[in-house]
Amino acid sequence: MDAISVIRAKRDRAELTDAQIDWVIDAYTRGEVADEQMSALAMAILLNGMNLREISRWTDAMIRSGVRMDFSSLPLPTSDKHSTGGVGDKITLPLAPLVAACGAAVPQLSGRGLGHTGGTLDKLESIPGWRALLSNDEMMQVLRDAGAVICAAGDGLAPADKKLYALRDVTGTVEAIPLIASSIMSKKIAEGTGALVLDVKVGSGAFMKNLADAQELARTMVGLGKNAGVNTVALLTDMGTPLGLTAGNALEVRESVEVLAGGGPADVVELTIALAREMLAAAGVTGKDPETALRDGSAMDHWRRMIAAQGGDPDAALPVAREQQVLTAPASGVLTGLDAYAVGVAAWRLGAGRARKEDPVQAGAGVEIHAKPGAHVTAGQPLLTLHTDTPERFDYALEALAAPDAITIADGADFKPTPLILDRVS
Ligand code: URA
Repeated sequence: MDAISVIRAKRDRAELTDAQIDWVIDAYTRGEVADEQMSALAMAILLNGMNLREISRWTDAMIRSGVRMDFSSLPLPTSDKHSTGGVGDKITLPLAPLVAACGAAVPQLSGRGLGHTGGTLDKLESIPGWRALLSNDEMMQVLRDAGAVICAAGDGLAPADKKLYALRDVTGTVEAIPLIASSIMSKKIAEGTGALVLDVKVGSGAFMKNLADAQELARTMVGLGKNAGVNTVALLTDMGTPLGLTAGNALEVRESVEVLAGGGPADVVELTIALAREMLAAAGVTGKDPETALRDGSAMDHWRRMIAAQGGDPDAALPVAREQQVLTAPASGVLTGLDAYAVGVAAWRLGAGRARKEDPVQAGAGVEIHAKPGAHVTAGQPLLTLHTDTPERFDYALEALAAPDAITIADGADFKPTPLILDRVS
């Protein structure tokens, strides 16, 4: 077997055989297939696609490149959620302790942000003392004590995906449905959760810009999960505008704690409760309803235990950026659009995200949103507050928000709000 014949086969639109797929993933993980060869193959896959058999074999080969985890010693059923990534998407933070409070165990292996989308681990690291890196024993202990754990995936879990994802990120090959589906599902299946709820984001701030592509991605991932014995469901949710009123690490932790305290923005609460109900149903748990667990403080209790068990101080003040700048409404009318991608890029440029995976992030940087689409605004009223420790970044962030469709204000006569939950695939 050799890399060039596998690349040529996909370039010429042939189906890859099981043997070709197994070989190329294994040889790439071992360093025998070079990065430039794998990037050519990833581009051929992006352009020519893969059928379900190829995607399933590719996923399986990535799972077999590393270890599989096992939560069968836990007394509770496990349920996990994965979002395909968006702007202001802090849902994992309130969701994991909420589902734990309702009776399922939540082993949540999460990632860091890259580009304009935020990462759950970066957000939680803004809590003083909190540790993302846990050994397997520590992870099981936090799960037993708090019912939920959010931590980094160990190096042994789907190492082929770690290498390939970093390569795709710098070769323009992220947005391929077979590669996204296999990347996400290899990690989730190797993690060993019993049930999985996928939040497939649709819109400018997401990988999938339209509903048809998102439906195809959702159907592919749900099929992969079910074939592997994981009870998998997907919600397709809007990412045309940021979720909630904050995008940035500490800013999003603050908003998540508001949700756990029974408040918070309506869209964040709605999606957290919808995903929690799906996670509980997928795991077959019929305990407390999530709305009750937010109201009665039990979700907050689990949050406090989970943060403390990972070295964090749930009562510590969160970092605040040194400098702020307010962006005001340029006209009066109805705010008809606040583009998720523009806000995500602005937050990233302010220091909330990273351009390369080894870059540090600023805990306090980001964007605070004062009006969401549908709101009546008056010229000169604050629309956004930009936060950063490095004020020389303001102009660059403002450039992203000056793009033609970033902020639109009109008379609003034909404004129709986009529903948050667009579809469900099971
Ligand atoms: N998240 C992943 O883990 N992989 C992808 O390819 C895209 C999003």
